[in-house]
Amino acid sequence: MNSTLNITVTDQNELKTGLAKYILELYGDYKIILCDAPMGAGKTTLIKEFCTVLGSTDNFSSPTYSIVNEYTYPGGKIYHFDLYRLKNKEELLDLGIEEYLDSGHYCIFEWPELVIDMIKIRYKKIEIEVNGNIRYLRIINK
Ligand SMILES: Nc1ncnc2c1ncn2[C@@H]1O[C@H](COP(=O)(O)OP(=O)(O)OP(=O)(O)O)[C@@H](O)[C@H]1O
Ligand SMILES: [Mg+2]
Repeated sequence: MNSTLNITVTDQNELKTGLAKYILELYGDYKIILCDAPMGAGKTTLIKEFCTVLGSTDNFSSPTYSIVNEYTYPGGKIYHFDLYRLKNKEELLDLGIEEYLDSGHYCIFEWPELVIDMIKIRYKKIEIEVNGNIRYLRIINK
């Protein structure tokens, strides 16, 4: 069954003081996480905090141009995707998306629309709505 939890974030620092950890661990150990939100809503910011929670000390950056960044953490690897610039599923397949999804490592997506149909296991989806400085997060397990 799908579950949904709504969280209001009024200050970005809340993510650092336990909220990112809470969201990451909510519903269980889901390795595939989709961040579905408009431009500038805070997807990269949230994913950076997830990486910190996982104990990654690698250099973190937005994969807007690289499409996928790979980080390590004590438990394995984190693949951080930004699919914004991809036009179709062929480009996603060319990237080797199936191997990434099957790898068992974390696969965390910004602009996830193209990949949704290719996910064969349960995943966590985070939607973000912005109103001024307030972020409304909706965390769904699918
Ligand atoms: N929870 C938050 N509260 C307030 N500001 C935030 C929050 N999260 C992120 N921001 C700010 O919003 C801006 C955009 O954040 P970020 O780059 O993470 O968005 P994004 O969704 O990844 O953008 P893009 O669509 O370009 O990939 C940054 O200046 C960041 O500091
Ligand atoms: Mg981003």
